[in-house]
Amino acid sequence: MRPPCCRVPALGAILGATLVLSATAQQAPRPQVLIKAGRLIDPKAGTVLANQAILVEGDRVKETGPAATVAGHAAAGARVIDLGAATVLPGLIDCHTHITSDPGDYYEQLFRRSPIDQAVVAHVYARRTLEAGFTTIRNVGADEFVDVALRNAIDRGDVAGPRMQVSTMPLSATGGHGDVNGFSPYLRFEQLSGIANGVDEIRSKVRWEIKYGADLIKVLASAGVLSEEESVGAPQYTQEELNALVAEAAMWGKKVAAHAHGAEAIKRAVRAGVASIEHGSLLDDEGIRLMKEKGTYLVSDVYNDDYILAEYARLGYPQKTIDKERQVGRAQRENFQRAVRAGVKIAFGTDAGVYPHGWNAKQFAHMVRWGLTPMQAIQAATVSAADLMGWSDRVGSLEPAHYADVIAVQGDPLADITTLEQVAFVMKGGVVVKEDRP
Ligand code: ARG
Repeated sequence: MRPPCCRVPALGAILGATLVLSATAQQAPRPQVLIKAGRLIDPKAGTVLANQAILVEGDRVKETGPAATVAGHAAAGARVIDLGAATVLPGLIDCHTHITSDPGDYYEQLFRRSPIDQAVVAHVYARRTLEAGFTTIRNVGADEFVDVALRNAIDRGDVAGPRMQVSTMPLSATGGHGDVNGFSPYLRFEQLSGIANGVDEIRSKVRWEIKYGADLIKVLASAGVLSEEESVGAPQYTQEELNALVAEAAMWGKKVAAHAHGAEAIKRAVRAGVASIEHGSLLDDEGIRLMKEKGTYLVSDVYNDDYILAEYARLGYPQKTIDKERQVGRAQRENFQRAVRAGVKIAFGTDAGVYPHGWNAKQFAHMVRWGLTPMQAIQAATVSAADLMGWSDRVGSLEPAHYADVIAVQGDPLADITTLEQVAFVMKGGVVVKEDRP
């Protein structure tokens, strides 16, 4: 006997149901919203236009253009949102978040909290991120599969938050940046993990993560700051391991994001074919050349240093980690600037979670101070981020058929990039989620 899930209903029943469904879909016109924008930034064209309008139908953009023209195409009952003189942009994208955790006491977080605690509060951080104007994120590291559960809950509409791509647990060598180091060998942390060594384990770990919902793979190609290994930038995977990891992910249609601070680890990851280098702190000339050649994105969290140096000693982090931050903080910003000048592709990513969620936009000012024009910084967080994610067909610019992810700020971010830290209006998928009127 067939199990119940496989019972086949009569063909007539299926056809009947389909007919009813398509008839309702045709009958119910999707609600329209006409957003009037005094100034509209088009990151794709790199332009800013006055007196524009965006016609939204359902969750998508139907048309954008001069206000008078677009208004003429709106349905009679369309809701009008007049954003006055505000500057309107596509929803922002952060390509490097850890949405399931917020900064906190080192030992408290290690020993008294579990992934279940994170799962309970993650939706709070998701809403904060969304209300800060980030309508899409690429989450590159979470415990267990909390990120998958959050992404799915947001997609179902159960909780508010940005669209998410998730990596699940970063792949790490034993003793590497993703392992728990510095404690007795008798202390065991029994939870699912991304620890994998050697080509075979790496291939099977990639398959396992994709099986349970990973949209991309994150690999820890080098040591790091907020972990207790000695080095900050030493390679932690061989070239052979990274090649296998990227090939395996590609076979399943997934991109790879590589955490890499050190010059050698960056180059190994780039040669292996990762889509992005995260942090990139000690990037050298050869690394820059390779990244340009391969079209690898740099996702450099150039704000992070400020917060870590200000807060992490107080949070009880070992002195070693603070010292490591001092080794990379300044160099990372200088190397970011060199990469920008050399024309390396840049996507916006903050490492939010290391600092409070909702503060994501604070990084724009640093990106501008270290070499980008305000328009380039906005492009990094819109069109370029969408390209890195493989989502250029749906987010990052306001054009027909894209999601109606729209934000607005008072003032002009091209004159003062910090205006992006105060987002007054957020629409995600045609639904207004924040509306602060002046
Ligand atoms: N998650 C990263 C690590 O622990 C944070 C690095 C922050 N420092 C910086 N300068 N970006 O390695």
